[in-house]
Amino acid sequence: MTACIVGWSHSKFGKYDAQTTNETLVVEAANEAMAHAGIEPKDIDVIYIGNMNGGFSRQEFHSSLPLQAHPDLRFKPSTRVENACATGTAAIHMGMNSLAAKKARFVLVVGVEKMSDVDGPTVGEILLKASYAQEEAGIDAGFAGIFGKIASAYFQRHGDKSEALAHISVKNHRNGTKNPFAHFQREFDYDFCRTPSAKNPFVAGPLKRTDCSPVSDGAAAVILTDVQTALGMKRAIAFRATEHVNDFLPMSRRDVVKFEGPALAWKRALQQARLDLLDLSFVETHDCFTSAELMQYEAMGLTPEGQGEKAILEGWTLPDGKLPVNLSGGLKSKGHPVGATGVSMHVMAAMQLDGSAGGMQRKDAKLGAVFNMGGTAVANYVSVLEPLR
Ligand code: COA
Repeated sequence: MTACIVGWSHSKFGKYDAQTTNETLVVEAANEAMAHAGIEPKDIDVIYIGNMNGGFSRQEFHSSLPLQAHPDLRFKPSTRVENACATGTAAIHMGMNSLAAKKARFVLVVGVEKMSDVDGPTVGEILLKASYAQEEAGIDAGFAGIFGKIASAYFQRHGDKSEALAHISVKNHRNGTKNPFAHFQREFDYDFCRTPSAKNPFVAGPLKRTDCSPVSDGAAAVILTDVQTALGMKRAIAFRATEHVNDFLPMSRRDVVKFEGPALAWKRALQQARLDLLDLSFVETHDCFTSAELMQYEAMGLTPEGQGEKAILEGWTLPDGKLPVNLSGGLKSKGHPVGATGVSMHVMAAMQLDGSAGGMQRKDAKLGAVFNMGGTAVANYVSVLEPLR
């Protein structure tokens, strides 16, 4: 254990107008996180900012945007980190490396994305930059097209799982109604999610609109410090284990139905934490599409391969189940501003472990895990978290 989260902030995710920019989102998130931790801007030693961009914002160079939050942040070392949809967790990892190398006592990590300034087809084009462009970027329907192909291949091997996908959507939307930061605070019933309609059309392969995370804007931030310092802070959520596993980028080089990178990251993280999966009180996982959550049930070891549907159909991942998954509503309902997502997931987990998750709270949450994924199971990060005391 080398690092703790000692403060955080989270904007409401959703669609913002032109007055709200990456800069305004970052400034607000940074100031709120420092205030939450009870530290001053002068106390920050190192800054990391997660932003995928690729054309969502005209402003590509982001590293000094957090310095706009306060004059005392001027001259602090700050770096932008990018790792597709796992950008936020990648930035947190960089912060932990700075702590481990004793280059910092307090690290500010902000994740941000404003996706809604460009039109739908352009969003799809930009997100496809997170595929292996040489072979995969010609697909229709943006990244949904890629996950639609993966879902089709999964259905071919293991049978049609549309029922399970609809139940995952219902669960995550219902959970999202309890999350004040969620993009959607709106329930969808099973029939609506299960049945294609004008309001719930097919987007790609077997994936309908209710199977997709939305296009969202937002930011989240955390303050990290070392364990010794954290012992004297108001709140401290410790990293019990962290793992990062990258797989080959081209889908043609792997069996993409298996999610082998996520499975290895989970296995190593649980070993490092000396825990079984079911020791966890909850998991926040990367449901960019409902099919991804289904496949992640298998990757985390909740069910054997091809049987992920059991976890949702038998209620294991519901809020009162044996392993609640995405109590925050997940990316599906909370939203997925790509650069902010990994940081957001850690904030949601920290709130659970701090007992401050309000209506989302899992009673007596003691251990939680986050799985954040970049691309098609390419950059895979697992964090296991627990209260320091
Ligand atoms: N889930 C549920 N409802 C959604 C939704 C989603 N993902 N996206 C939009 N809606 C709702 C809107 O709120 C709106 O509802 P209303 O008519 O009651 O106001 C309606 O659907 C139409 O919204 P619109 O924005 O026009 O939908 P769209 O068809 O342009 O976009 C998707 C829908 C699914 C194509 C879009 O959300 C998308 O591209 N998502 C995937 C993003 C992605 O790939 N992220 C990276 C993952 S790795």
